[in-house]
Amino acid sequence: MTETWMILGATSGMAQALTRDLATRGAGLILAGRKTADMQAIAADATARGAQAVQVLTYDARDNATCDALVAAAEAAAGTFNLAVFVGSMPQQSAIDADPDLIAGTITDSLSGPAHLIHRLAPLMEARGTGVIVGVGSVAGDRGRLSNYVYGAAKAGFAAYLSGLRNRMARKGVHVMTVKPGPVDTPMTYGLPPMPFQTSPEKVSAAILHGVARRRDVIYVAPIWRLIMMVIRALPEALFKRTRF
Ligand SMILES: NC(=O)c1ccc[n+]([C@@H]2O[C@H](COP(=O)([O-])OP(=O)(O)OC[C@H]3O[C@@H](n4cnc5c(N)ncnc54)[C@H](OP(=O)(O)O)[C@@H]3O)[C@@H](O)[C@H]2O)c1
Repeated sequence: MTETWMILGATSGMAQALTRDLATRGAGLILAGRKTADMQAIAADATARGAQAVQVLTYDARDNATCDALVAAAEAAAGTFNLAVFVGSMPQQSAIDADPDLIAGTITDSLSGPAHLIHRLAPLMEARGTGVIVGVGSVAGDRGRLSNYVYGAAKAGFAAYLSGLRNRMARKGVHVMTVKPGPVDTPMTYGLPPMPFQTSPEKVSAAILHGVARRRDVIYVAPIWRLIMMVIRALPEALFKRTRF
């Protein structure tokens, strides 16, 4: 086996698409998340598609003790060890307004939880001098917006974390790629009003594999979102605070 991928948040719609693509090229897989039964079904499907040595491990971003087994699995991984992080939660901003206790969990799921695990895996990957870390952020992190600024703050923090990590790891042969999807048709967006330039989990997976192969630093899916967010970021605050974007 030439590569093993740890998929953090393996039940995510996007993660499942990437898992299918990695399985068909015969990768080793470590699926990590909260829902064991769902991950077992994903693992069975991946094995049928050609994945090697598929493991299922419990991971909860709000419980750092669950990282111990993941670190051990990474140490034992065959071939190049790679990590893809899909964990994140997006409570409605109105729900957060009614219950500010939701803020801490939102930040933990997208930022401090995954960062804790990555920080434990980083020395191992540096010692190997190879591998890729893919972190899924969001265009929501590019500017705090009325509709989801707590989620956006978590994703902005994760993007800043990945930027510094990229600088650190590049010196040791490990590549870090930040993924910024616009709206994607997954359980996270189920029931929300239709959004412009929405894409599919399969297209996100294809973009991730394309970006990893070319060692891109930051990718937007769909690419139009890079331009849209450039314009949004350039709006003066005096104007931006009158928008409902
Ligand atoms: N869908 C979009 O439009 C969109 C756009 C931009 C960025 N994103 C980001 O893309 C990533 C993947 O999301 P998705 O669209 O595929 O949605 P999703 O299907 O809802 O996936 C979210 C994943 O995060 C996991 N998760 C949440 N809290 C967790 C915790 N405390 N511990 C462990 N796992 C936890 C979920 O696990 P459970 O199955 O156990 O709940 C699920 O696997 C997320 O980071 C999301 O913020 C999504």
